[in-house]
Amino acid sequence: MRKTGIRRDARRVTAREFGMATPSPFAFDGNLIAALRSARFIAALTGAGISAESGLATFRDAQTGLWARFDPRELATPSAFARNPKLVWDWYAWRREHVATARPNAGHVALAELERRVPEFALITQNVDGLHQRAGSRSPIELHGNITRVKCSREGTVVERWTAPRDAVPRCAHCGAMLRPDVVWFEEMLPEQALAAADDAARRCNVMLVVGTSAEVYPAAALPALARRSGAIIVEINPNATPLSAAADYVLRGAAGVVLPTLVAALD
Ligand code: APR
Repeated sequence: MRKTGIRRDARRVTAREFGMATPSPFAFDGNLIAALRSARFIAALTGAGISAESGLATFRDAQTGLWARFDPRELATPSAFARNPKLVWDWYAWRREHVATARPNAGHVALAELERRVPEFALITQNVDGLHQRAGSRSPIELHGNITRVKCSREGTVVERWTAPRDAVPRCAHCGAMLRPDVVWFEEMLPEQALAAADDAARRCNVMLVVGTSAEVYPAAALPALARRSGAIIVEINPNATPLSAAADYVLRGAAGVVLPTLVAALD
């Protein structure tokens, strides 16, 4: 399935508009805790918001979001790369530097901890920053690839080492085609295996934590609804309301780096 969702004018809504009281992140509903404690299989779907406290910009936050400052049509589509490969290459190189200096935060660490506590766990991420792995998560399902990898734009083979000439995009040593970041651009297909694994987790999990995503980019944004239709409890963790909020069973309005460690500790 292709990745879609280029939109730049998301209107913020408040929890009150959904008639939901804003729960204190430190007073969790007893039924939520019971559901997490008894869950055989917990899945987590994460987005850029979980890395915000690591100093990495999200995409759609009004001022600070990458798409508020840069045009995704110029930087994150196959046609943008065809038009101006050097611009696209440099932009990802710039992001890669930020990712390299960032560190996992308490939210990433809490999910790695939760994984060790439950019989079955699946971490599905839209993030390309690799911070889940650096926090100790075993095998996150990377729906949108990983910015620390590059691949041949013709053969698709991942290249471990490359040297970037100052004025050009590096080329594949095997076929000479340009190298590109190993991420999924808009209009591109998601990796089949990752999507199948995410779909399977959504169908089989008892609880799905949806953390730090605006739930606007498909097909990832369809996973919580699939999980709910399959009988799972949906828990949204986000300081702001999203299109998912109304359908969530529990909404925890707060930063992932605050709510997640507290929630995991509450399972003791
Ligand atoms: N903790 C939890 N959530 C947060 C935090 C935080 N500290 N800070 C911000 N958020 C929330 C915002 O309220 C917003 O709902 O994180 C969400 C980030 O949304 P987006 O910027 O749209 O990021 P994401 O949902 O991951 O985007 C999906 O779009 O641009 C593409 O490929 C890119 O994977 C990305 C996809």
